[in-house]
Amino acid sequence: MAPTRTRSLLPLLLALATVLMSGPGDAQISIFPKEAFLQRGTSLQVNCSTSCNQTFTLGLETKLPKTELASGHNWKLFELTDIEEDSRPLCFENCGTIQASASAYVTVYSFPESVELDPLPSWQPVGKNLTLRCQVHGGVPRAQLTAVLLRGEVELSRQPVTGNPRDLTEITVTVLASRDDHQANFSCRTELDLRRQGVALFQNISESRQLQTFELPVTLPKLDTPVILEVGTQHLVLCSLQGLFPASEAQVHLEVGGQRLNPTTTGSRDLVSATAPLEVTAELEGTQQLRCVVELAEQTLEAQETLSIYSFPAPTLTLSEPEVSEGGPVTVKCEAHGRSLVVMLTSAPAGPRSREIQLTLNASSRLPSPEIQFTLNASAEDHKRRFFCSAALKVAGQVLYKNLTMELHVLYGPRLDESDCLGNWTWPERSQQTLKCQAWGNPFPKLTCIRETDGALLPIGLVKTVKREMNGTYMCHAVNSQGNVTRAVFLTVLYHHQNNLVIIILVTLAAILVPMATAIYLYNRQRKIKIYKLQKAQEETAMKLKTQATPP
Ligand SMILES: *[C@@H]1O[C@H](CO)[C@@H](O)[C@H](O)[C@H]1NC(C)=O
Ligand SMILES: *[C@@H]1O[C@H](CO)[C@@H](O)[C@H](O)[C@H]1NC(C)=O
Ligand SMILES: *[C@@H]1O[C@H](CO)[C@@H](O)[C@H](O)[C@H]1NC(C)=O
Ligand SMILES: *[C@@H]1O[C@H](CO)[C@@H](O)[C@H](O)[C@H]1NC(C)=O
Ligand SMILES: *[C@@H]1O[C@H](CO)[C@@H](O)[C@H](O)[C@H]1NC(C)=O
Ligand SMILES: *[C@@H]1O[C@H](CO)[C@@H](O)[C@H](O)[C@H]1NC(C)=O
Ligand SMILES: *[C@@H]1O[C@H](CO)[C@@H](O)[C@H](O)[C@H]1NC(C)=O
Ligand SMILES: *[C@@H]1O[C@H](CO)[C@@H](O)[C@H](O)[C@H]1NC(C)=O
Ligand SMILES: *[C@@H]1O[C@H](CO)[C@@H](O)[C@H](O)[C@H]1NC(C)=O
Ligand SMILES: *[C@@H]1O[C@H](CO)[C@@H](O)[C@H](O)[C@H]1NC(C)=O
Ligand SMILES: *[C@@H]1O[C@H](CO)[C@@H](O)[C@H](O)[C@H]1NC(C)=O
Repeated sequence: MAPTRTRSLLPLLLALATVLMSGPGDAQISIFPKEAFLQRGTSLQVNCSTSCNQTFTLGLETKLPKTELASGHNWKLFELTDIEEDSRPLCFENCGTIQASASAYVTVYSFPESVELDPLPSWQPVGKNLTLRCQVHGGVPRAQLTAVLLRGEVELSRQPVTGNPRDLTEITVTVLASRDDHQANFSCRTELDLRRQGVALFQNISESRQLQTFELPVTLPKLDTPVILEVGTQHLVLCSLQGLFPASEAQVHLEVGGQRLNPTTTGSRDLVSATAPLEVTAELEGTQQLRCVVELAEQTLEAQETLSIYSFPAPTLTLSEPEVSEGGPVTVKCEAHGRSLVVMLTSAPAGPRSREIQLTLNASSRLPSPEIQFTLNASAEDHKRRFFCSAALKVAGQVLYKNLTMELHVLYGPRLDESDCLGNWTWPERSQQTLKCQAWGNPFPKLTCIRETDGALLPIGLVKTVKREMNGTYMCHAVNSQGNVTRAVFLTVLYHHQNNLVIIILVTLAAILVPMATAIYLYNRQRKIKIYKLQKAQEETAMKLKTQATPP
């Protein structure tokens, strides 16, 4: 420290001496250039000249390394090298007894050695202040050095760089981070404006740093999946989160009972959603946690859901015989498996014929038990009767059902009674009729109706024209594998009564009209005879009179 101080003191003392010792009219000493502005580390040539016309000594006083380059009779040219900082070189002379000196102003400029933007946070929350810090080292003259903080090409702040150039100078600016700042490049630029000195404007720019901004909602991810799942089924687990930015960079993890699912994630605008198929395996039976973790900007948001995973084998419904002959016993059995219980075993009537018949089950069969059964004697009405078995399982406070139905088939002989086949038909001749005759049975019976007398077939169905020949007694015979049945059908065709009536009317009319006509005729004839007889008598009288006048 001490030598430096003395070195820097020397020019000062000399300057003081010059001021004290030089006077007007004395020997002239000059220095060229009087002012210099140069880049640090470069060299400068200084010409000291004097007008002293006596013996003189001429020199240059500087703490800078110097070399004498050339000299004339009244001048000396020196070179100053390694000019690191501002200095005031001093030309001095001893002209006779007079000492004189002249000094020059050497101003040094230098570019900043480093311009650096402090690292940015890897993720900056949107809506929070972000302070950009620019560190400038070196760079003189400071009065002409400014720092500009940039976002891309846009100037955020322009500030003078002050302080000691040997120390790091920090320039800061605070910006409110927005979504638009995501992936924006920030940088810091220094400007050394030497245009005043006729040099130029020098810029140094830091490496740019890219910012990542993010925003997370206050809400939690939304899980969308049924909470009660059956072993052996497949489901799609959906997890979504609205209001996060940048959604496309969010990661979603889904797991069930510690097992990672393999989700497909899509992010658009500010919604991220992930779907993953979930295979409900037997190992998962019980309660499991479904977790959805959304990860963005080293932050996580998590949602959980408790899944109740159950296995519920369907009940089995068995009929001791799915097809039974009429009267045969049938045992209906409904059996539940696993932890489920049979809650109901009922039957529903089959066709319209058995509408009124309701199978009455023992009341105890309505109580839950692992197995319920009953036996019935099959009747024709039980044909196509459906049995319904329902098992229930309680999972997470909810009752789940599995139902089964089965149909009973009863083989029964043909049925052919009055309601199926009317025994008496009375039809007018030439009318159109429909003859209904239907036998029942399982298997479906074959029905034939034959007239006893001549074996003619009864026309079943639509009869276009009723003919009197159809009249007669028919024997209807229904047969299937279970038996046979016969029923007589009387078909009366009306045609006599109609004809008799006409005849009766005609006969009656004849009976009335014939005597009347006869009477009228006889009367008229009698009258005509009388008139004729009178005419005859008159003619005869006239003839008699003629003959009397002319005798033959
Ligand atoms: C130094 O200055 C003197 C006086 O101005 C001049 O005559 C001389 O040529 C100069 N020397 C150089 C090398 O410029
Ligand atoms: C020196 O020069 C000055 C003018 O510059 C002159 O007046 C003076 O007489 C000179 N002296 C000698 C000794 O030559
Ligand atoms: C951000 O900083 C500015 C001043 O630079 C201040 O006015 C504002 O309240 C700050 N905002 C937040 C969210 O901190
Ligand atoms: C930031 O710079 C990187 C490369 O350095 C470039 O890929 C990116 O597009 C720039 N960002 C903007 C917003 O210009
Ligand atoms: C600063 O800029 C100048 C020219 O503008 C260049 O010569 C110099 O090397 C730069 N300095 C750094 C540290 O990049
Ligand atoms: C149902 O069966 C139970 C025994 O299993 C019996 O005690 C009860 O009387 C029966 N009820 C009816 C309505 O048949
Ligand atoms: C079924 O028929 C048998 C005789 O064939 C009879 O003993 C039994 O009581 C009947 N069962 C029912 C439920 O009617
Ligand atoms: C199964 O049966 C139960 C009654 O035991 C009923 O509540 C439920 O709706 C039925 N489910 C189906 C799918 O038919
Ligand atoms: C058909 O009707 C007649 C009377 O018209 C009656 O005597 C006879 O018993 C009836 N037959 C049947 C099978 O109903
Ligand atoms: C028509 O048939 C009935 C029996 O079905 C019989 O009594 C009657 O005599 C028959 N009439 C004729 C005209 O054959
Ligand atoms: C009809 O049934 C009786 C017994 O009921 C049987 O003897 C007869 O052979 C059966 N007829 C036909 C054609 O099946």
